[in-house]
Amino acid sequence: AKKIAVLTSGGDAPGMNAAVRSVVRTAISFGMEVYGVKHGYNGLLRGEVDKMYLRSVSNIIQHGGTSLFTARSPEFNTPEGVQKAADKCRELGIDGVVVIGGDGSFRGARDLTGAGIPCIGVPGTIDNDISSSEYTIGYDTAMNTAMEMIDRIRDTTESHDRCSVVEVMGRRCGDIALNTGIAVGAIATLVPEVPFDFEKDLVDRIKYAQQTGKRHFIVVVAEGVGHSEEICKRIQEETGIESRATILGHVQRGGSPTLRDRVVASRMGYHAVELLRDGKSNRVVVMQGERIVDFDITEALNMPRTFDEKLYKISQDLSR
Ligand code: F6P
Repeated sequence: AKKIAVLTSGGDAPGMNAAVRSVVRTAISFGMEVYGVKHGYNGLLRGEVDKMYLRSVSNIIQHGGTSLFTARSPEFNTPEGVQKAADKCRELGIDGVVVIGGDGSFRGARDLTGAGIPCIGVPGTIDNDISSSEYTIGYDTAMNTAMEMIDRIRDTTESHDRCSVVEVMGRRCGDIALNTGIAVGAIATLVPEVPFDFEKDLVDRIKYAQQTGKRHFIVVVAEGVGHSEEICKRIQEETGIESRATILGHVQRGGSPTLRDRVVASRMGYHAVELLRDGKSNRVVVMQGERIVDFDITEALNMPRTFDEKLYKISQDLSR
């Protein structure tokens, strides 16, 4: 490819800017022309496409959000929409697109490749829910934010001898909850991957810890389990411990990316442009171990999700 475009799509994630910067600067280093598309696939349909230069991506690596803006595009998600976007690329002479986003965005990248425009996906989502990759851009920052917020909640929970039920994001994936639960010393962590028994996994656990002298409790609930208000009420009813629920929400999506997110984003962006330079298409850039590799998008979308059972066991054994 000689003239490529980059866009961010779906929910934003801290580190997306670092990925955009990497794509732009790598492309320029390789002698390519590079364009930034605003508002995800919508911008491709509307022709919101600007040529990018070295200085276009100055001063963004440390910022959360995405300076290219993002959207979930219902119009693009139709055969006509995909065709229109491909035609727009041809009109502009764009012969490669890097799509930074989650699974939904990769399905779009696969379809656009099918319509004749080579695409490469880069995993950007706080959820870590892309089965082909052990890591997604934004995940580390979101977990650190959740941890800091829950540390604050703990201060007041402790002062009042209460139980706090805190719901964290992750869509259907329990990874943010599991790791955050360990990091904040939660008495229990509920994830969608593991069925739980209210009496045994919550009430008994809390009562046992109470008998050993523990007086305040943090319960982390993954978004995929949900019902944190009801869980909180029931804990209060069954244990007699005054309880409060907090849904952390979109605070987890913002803020300055951590070092890990900035560096992984930089590496993944670089790899994506290498693939386009080498004439590859329909690939998704992923992390395996600590290595950056790539898979066919269609195969990647069909890979089964794995859950870290050992880490879950560790969280169970340490929460006492
Ligand atoms: O995929 C990221 C995420 O924040 C999920 O954790 C959450 O389920 C969803 O997006 C929320 O989406 P929205 O920002 O559209 O409300």
